[in-house]
Amino acid sequence: MDPVLERIYGLDAKQLAACSEHLMVGGGTRGGPVLHHGKGVRVWDTDGKAYIDCTSQSWALYLGYCNDEIWETVDEHARNLTHVHQGFDTLPRFALAERIAGIMPAELNRVSFVPTSAIALEGAMKLALKNRPGSAHFLCLMDSYHGTTLGTMGASWISTQSPGYFAGGSRFLPLTRQFIRVPNPYRYRPYFSADPDENERICLTMLELTLQKGVNGPAAGFIVEPLQASGGMIPLTHSYMRGVREICDRYGVPLIFDEIQTFVRMGKWTAAEYYGVTPDVIALGKAVGGGLPLGVTILRDGLEGYSPDAEELHTFANNSLAQVAALKMLDIIERDDIMGNTTRMGAYLRDGLLKLQQQFPRIGDIRQAGLHIGVEVVKDPETREPDVDAVAALRAEAMQRGLIIGVAGVRKNLFKIKPALVIRQAECDEVLSVLEDALKAALA
Ligand SMILES: Cc1ncc(COP(=O)(O)O)c(C=O)c1O
Repeated sequence: MDPVLERIYGLDAKQLAACSEHLMVGGGTRGGPVLHHGKGVRVWDTDGKAYIDCTSQSWALYLGYCNDEIWETVDEHARNLTHVHQGFDTLPRFALAERIAGIMPAELNRVSFVPTSAIALEGAMKLALKNRPGSAHFLCLMDSYHGTTLGTMGASWISTQSPGYFAGGSRFLPLTRQFIRVPNPYRYRPYFSADPDENERICLTMLELTLQKGVNGPAAGFIVEPLQASGGMIPLTHSYMRGVREICDRYGVPLIFDEIQTFVRMGKWTAAEYYGVTPDVIALGKAVGGGLPLGVTILRDGLEGYSPDAEELHTFANNSLAQVAALKMLDIIERDDIMGNTTRMGAYLRDGLLKLQQQFPRIGDIRQAGLHIGVEVVKDPETREPDVDAVAALRAEAMQRGLIIGVAGVRKNLFKIKPALVIRQAECDEVLSVLEDALKAALA
């Protein structure tokens, strides 16, 4: 073994405690196992305990941990090129631009690469601003999460008191103020009317009113995550998305889709395809780099793109290793019908969860699109009062039994099942079986 790896893999508990004195981490739920290695949907900790990971590491490993084919391709390419500045053309960048344009809605045909997800969304914001002279504010949805860079943090719920207190993003307001929020059509917990359809119509009216009377000057753009993930796994409906497109068209407002989580995970290449609604700009990130950091911004035909005078310039914007990994991953997704598997396994897990709901009526709502699954836990199915403690207990009980689930919702009132998209039916059965035991323990 390489001596550096030998040293790292040999760190004992005392040494780790000393190292940890120097580590500063600004988010995420730590305190769980120290991860050592992974394969497919499974990961092992330093004590050798195995887990099925239904978080796919911030939903970013579509083909699972350590996909041999991706890493063999990356390894081969790394012997030719690793880091290249964006001012130099490379073969992988040309190839990936063409490949991404080919899987986006036909009108979105120009592609920009950046180091990672939130920067891709900032790129979308830059392009929208460029195409809306005189604009200064963006609209976004309540409960949305779009990142923690200073450009995106103000659009994330962590900058509000949605969780019941002022969360981390609220400490950086001098640099995050460019957003105006409009209500999201949350069907399980509608704000305005007990009828979710009526509620949705009111949300659309609020959007239109805000554009008319609530923004100084023209709005630069409307940023929408088509399935609000971090905010509570809230899928938007086809009718809402069509309404949004119509209103944006009426007011000349660029529509931006944050597809950083929805790309492929809903069983289609994009949520735009899933909903049949085409935005003006799409931002991709997380899994798009096949497990390596990569962000992509894609612009609609006819809109003005970047000028080459430092509008979008990053040292690591031309990550040729991530580009090659992305190309390999996209080929495998097609070859192995990963989107078909996503649709099938998503439906299988949903059916299993519906059965569990009969056993545990405190499973309040199950929301599923592909392998993008969120489950609300409530104190009482009638009142729908969120049960935050039960979700925390469930996560701990599942972890103890070798299952890693995510927790979401601005109040942490739901758990998420969003494994690698290569998950098989037998593994879904394991997930459901461990969940059943964990639910028994957590809801006792
Ligand atoms: C919808 C969405 N947008 C943007 C981001 C920011 O991504 P990153 O943290 O990779 O920059 C996230 C991350 O969780 C996300 O879920």
